Amino acid sequence: MEVKSIKLDYNSLMEKYKLLQSKERYLEIINSFSQSLKDLNTSEEIVWGIAKQVIARMGFEDCVIYLLDNEGKNLIQKAAHGPKNPFQLNIKNPIIIPLGKGIVGTVAVTGISEIISNTTKDSRYILDDEQRLSEIAVPIIYQDKVIGVIDSENSNANFFTKEHLNILTTVAGMGASKIINAKINEELKEYQFSLEKLVKQKTIELNHLVNKLQRSNTDLESFAFAASHDLQEPLRTIISYLQLIERRDNNFSPESSEYFQFVIKGASRMNLLLQGLLEYSRVNDFQTDEVKVLNMNDILILIKDNLRGAIENSNGQVWVEDLLEIEGNKTQIIQLFQNIISNALKFRNPETVPVVKVSCQRIENFIEFKVEDNGIGIEAKFHNNIFGLFNRLNPIDSFKGSGIGLALCKRIIDYHNGNISVKSRLGGGTSFTIRLPWG
Ligand SMILES: Nc1ncnc2c1ncn2[C@@H]1O[C@H](COP(=O)(O)OP(=O)(O)OP(=O)(O)O)[C@@H](O)[C@H]1O
Ligand SMILES: [Mg+2]
Repeated sequence: MEVKSIKLDYNSLMEKYKLLQSKERYLEIINSFSQSLKDLNTSEEIVWGIAKQVIARMGFEDCVIYLLDNEGKNLIQKAAHGPKNPFQLNIKNPIIIPLGKGIVGTVAVTGISEIISNTTKDSRYILDDEQRLSEIAVPIIYQDKVIGVIDSENSNANFFTKEHLNILTTVAGMGASKIINAKINEELKEYQFSLEKLVKQKTIELNHLVNKLQRSNTDLESFAFAASHDLQEPLRTIISYLQLIERRDNNFSPESSEYFQFVIKGASRMNLLLQGLLEYSRVNDFQTDEVKVLNMNDILILIKDNLRGAIENSNGQVWVEDLLEIEGNKTQIIQLFQNIISNALKFRNPETVPVVKVSCQRIENFIEFKVEDNGIGIEAKFHNNIFGLFNRLNPIDSFKGSGIGLALCKRIIDYHNGNISVKSRLGGGTSFTIRLPWG
C-alpha cells in the first residue's frame, strides 16, 4: 500500500515537472519572439515571424495566419506553417475566407478565441487539404477591432489546450499593434510612391505644355510681327494716294468729302494700330547678358527728355524721388516707365495741371516703384482689363492711342519676373505699382 502511494507521487511529480518544462519552453519562445519583433518591419515579416518563430517551435502540425482586407470583408492568408506553406515565405494562392464563414470567419466576427476538440462535430469546419480533428482559432485584436486570426489544426482530437490558447493570445496581442504600425507605414510608402509618380507624370505633362505654349507663342510673335510689318507698306500706299486724290480732286460733294475724311482717318488709325502692334511684337524675351544694373535716376532723366513735348504741352510736372538701382533690360525698362508716365500725362483731368510722382522703395527682395497721377482715374471694374491688348476705356476723340501701351508694359514686367497692379478711382487719380525682383 505504501509502495503504491510513493509511485503515485512520483508520477504526479513527473507530470508537474513536464508541465513546468513545457511552460518554460513556451516562455522562452514568447521571449525570443518579443525580442525579434523590433527587427520585423513589414506586416508580412511580422505574420511570418509568428508562423516560423512561434507556431513551428511549439511543434504544431499546421497553422495559417489571416489578416482582414482593407474593405473588412475577407480574411486573407498571409503566412502559414506546415502543409499550407509549400514554399519558403511564399504563398501562391492565398486562402480567402469571407467574414463570418467557418470557424476562422466566426472568430473574426466575435473576437472570441475557440478551441474545437473534435471538428467532425462542428458544422462550421471547412475542409481544405485534409480533415484534422482539432482546431484552435485566436483573433488578432487591435483597439477592440479584429484585424486577423491565427488558426491552427491538428490531426488528433483534443490536441489543443488552455496553455496553447494563452500563448497564442499573448503572441496575437504582441503582434497586433506592430502589424497596424507596419500597415500604416506600408500605406504611407505606397501613397508617397504614387504621389511621386503623379508628380513626375504631371511634370512631364507640364513641360510638354510649356514647350507647346512656347512654340505657339513664338509662332504668334512672328505672325504678329510679319503681319504688322508687311501690312504697313500697302497701307502707307493707300494713305498717300488718298491724300493725293484729296489734293487733286476738288469736285467732291460735301457729303463725299466728309466720307473721304472718314476713310483717311480710318486708314491713319489703322496705321497707328499696326505701328503699336509692331512695337508690341518686338518686345521679346531677352538673353541674360542683356540684363544690366540700371541707374533709375538716369533712366528717368532720359524718359523726361523723351516726353518733353507732352510735359510742356500739358504744363505738367513729373516729380521723381531719389530712385534705387534695379537689374533689367535697359530698352524695355525705358519703354515700361515711359508708357506709364505718358499715360499719366495723357489721361489728365482737363481742369487741373497734371502732376506725376515717381517713387520707389525696397520691400524684401523686390524694388517697388509707384507712379501716381492726379488724372481722370479708372473705374474699378476696368482695373484688370487695361493690361490687355487694344483695351481702351475712352473715346478716341478725347484721348488718342491704340490700347497697346499697358499690354506692352505687362509683357516687359513678365519677362522681368515682376508684377504690376493699379489702384484708381474714377476722377481720383491713378497709382501704378511695379515690383521688380532684386538680388
Ligand atoms: N494713368 C491713367 N489714368 C487713367 N486711365 C488710364 C491711365 N493709364 C491707362 N489708362 C486707361 O487704360 C487704357 C489702356 O492704356 P494703354 O496705355 O494700354 O492704352 P492707350 O494709352 O490708350 O494707347 P497707347 O498706349 O497704345 O497709345 C487707356 O486707354 C485708358 O483708358
Ligand atoms: Mg498708353
